[in-house]
Amino acid sequence: MTTILGIETSCDETAAAVVDDGTDVRSNIVASQVDLHRKYGGVVPEIASRAHIERLDSVIEEALGAADCELDQIDAIAVTNRPGLVGALLIGVTAAKTLSWVTGKPLVAVDHIEAHANSAAIGMSHGETPWPAVALIVSGGHTSLFRVDDPLSIKLLGATTDDAAGEAFDKVAAILGLSYPGGPAIERVASSGDATKIDFPRTMLSQESLDFSFSGIKTAVLYHVHGQGKTTGGLAKLSEQEIADIAASFQQAVIDVLVRKTMLAVAQVRVSSVVLGGGVAANGTLRRALESACRERALSFRAADLQYCTDNAAMIAALGYHLHTAGRHADLDLDAFPTGSLVTDG
Ligand code: KG4
Ligand code: ZN
Repeated sequence: MTTILGIETSCDETAAAVVDDGTDVRSNIVASQVDLHRKYGGVVPEIASRAHIERLDSVIEEALGAADCELDQIDAIAVTNRPGLVGALLIGVTAAKTLSWVTGKPLVAVDHIEAHANSAAIGMSHGETPWPAVALIVSGGHTSLFRVDDPLSIKLLGATTDDAAGEAFDKVAAILGLSYPGGPAIERVASSGDATKIDFPRTMLSQESLDFSFSGIKTAVLYHVHGQGKTTGGLAKLSEQEIADIAASFQQAVIDVLVRKTMLAVAQVRVSSVVLGGGVAANGTLRRALESACRERALSFRAADLQYCTDNAAMIAALGYHLHTAGRHADLDLDAFPTGSLVTDG
């Protein structure tokens, strides 16, 4: 058995987890900072870094305690070092380097988005895998399609050219006067709305493109609320039902694009498996829509468990396991980077 301690501080969740063999989660502790950032309507990097400093030690202790695991029983320490807020990432990276130096255990650097891409495999029984698969990863900072042949062979097929899907949910929630973070708030309000009420644009870019664009739909919602070309004054005139209809119609338009592009990717790379991960993958309507599109085409489908959709350290430890067993260790001069390691290869 190989046991990995995972550490995640790339944005506004301070998280640590203990995972065996890349799949058995023994503990998964997430200290959310949502309450600290809510009044600003988004993540404030300095506040995030400070909260990580204050909380990380106890979150790591809690993760070890909940797993009934001593530090010397850990085989390697995996930490997110990209992409994310550099100041926030550095807190986790510094903690992981310190633990690695003190314990002599190997250090493993994990790309956060690649960890999301592997997150649907967490909890699968040994020997079972969803690969090769097309992975749709939808988060607050990224919207990407990958071809995953195994956890260490992840190829970017397409990505957003402007806003990420989660960012669009957050911005549209703000336009509709809903609470932060916007994704869960839109989903809640949309459940009593009519998704066919407003025909918001489904931006597909070119016919064969696997890239996304969500800035147009955000502007369409803004003008729908306030009037064409206007950005204020309209919200107070809307009834609760009208707001619910806008939320539901917006959500459906985003989901239609995500599902269509994922099916296009499957047709282009010819795999028979689809996985879903990232914070927006917590959305029940998206999960059901993608599942039914896969069922219609006899594709297998696996979404990450809800607790592994939004940011967590179990997914860092899970991918860290594969990197560790492949001998891909980092040095103690490991740095943090705002950008991901993957690039499109055309
Ligand atoms: O993966 P994640 O926790 O953080 C990043 O790596 O960005 O994703 C956070 C994003 C936020 O934009 C949030 O609004 C969105 O995921 N989100 C949702 C839902 N839950 C979280 N979007 C739609 N429906 C949800 N239920
Ligand atoms: Zn994330």
